[in-house]
Amino acid sequence: MNKITVIGAGHVGATTAQRLAEKELAREIVLIDVIEGIPQGKGLDQWESAPIEGFDSRVIGSNDYGPAAGSEMFIVTAGVARKPGMSRDDLLRTNVAIVKSVSEEIKKCSPDAIVIVVSNPLDVMAWVAKEVTGFPRNRVIGMAGVLDTARYRSFIADALDVSVEDIQAMVLGGHGDTMVPLISYTTVSGIPVTQMMNGSKLDEIVERTRNGGAEIVGYLKTGSAYYAPSAAAAQMAEAIVKDKRRILPCAAWLEGEFGFRDLYLGVPCKLGASGLNQIIEVELSKAERAALEKSAEHVRQTMSAVSL
Ligand code: 2OP
Repeated sequence: MNKITVIGAGHVGATTAQRLAEKELAREIVLIDVIEGIPQGKGLDQWESAPIEGFDSRVIGSNDYGPAAGSEMFIVTAGVARKPGMSRDDLLRTNVAIVKSVSEEIKKCSPDAIVIVVSNPLDVMAWVAKEVTGFPRNRVIGMAGVLDTARYRSFIADALDVSVEDIQAMVLGGHGDTMVPLISYTTVSGIPVTQMMNGSKLDEIVERTRNGGAEIVGYLKTGSAYYAPSAAAAQMAEAIVKDKRRILPCAAWLEGEFGFRDLYLGVPCKLGASGLNQIIEVELSKAERAALEKSAEHVRQTMSAVSL
């Protein structure tokens, strides 16, 4: 790509920009933030790492959207982060206003862009971005499932003492306490995980995954996770930039898939050059189905508290 813009130069946004640059996913990576000096300073610092890391993606920081014009992709990380004891939904009001204004700018300066939303509460922010930009659903996708799945995979790999690379899994549903790790689709190099781990250990891992974001907030105290979230956003970007057609769990706008419509929910998605190429509907057990419905209900409740 020619240009990818990351909105928000906090920990998630800045780390994402660095990862995109190191992967050389675009000629230019623009980093935008409202705070004066921060995107310029971080962008310049990252660009100065280029000769050492050996990348030619130019990182540019800015407070306005001028340099973002004509971006083929945006990664939206803007918003306030969670403090200890705060739920993702507590962030709602502030972040709706922020994502709304960001989306208006995106629509104005890059009407053909693909947007990956990272701001929380994720599923609702993706909806805000889609509504405000008016972009079709293939061009507005939410990042959550890749992160939640990475946490789940790393916990399983650790418990089994095997490589993280050999854990295949999907975490579906909303990005929150109601997310749905699919045990029936979790394998270790193709071996169903249930053959290698007992049910109570798996339940423990599912619970830890659901609280994965809060676990990090509990340690950091003044902020939330950013290494794994930025890695997840960069993996989605890479799948799109390289038209890899990877199957990754992402928040997608549902139009009848899985029996849901008119909301964002984490589902298996094929990502390629057009953004969301396809939603893959998979069979769910009764319990997984019920959990997904509960998760959808939670997303709907949060949506109903927002007026656009
Ligand atoms: C996380 O899961 C804060 O939602 C973010 O770490």
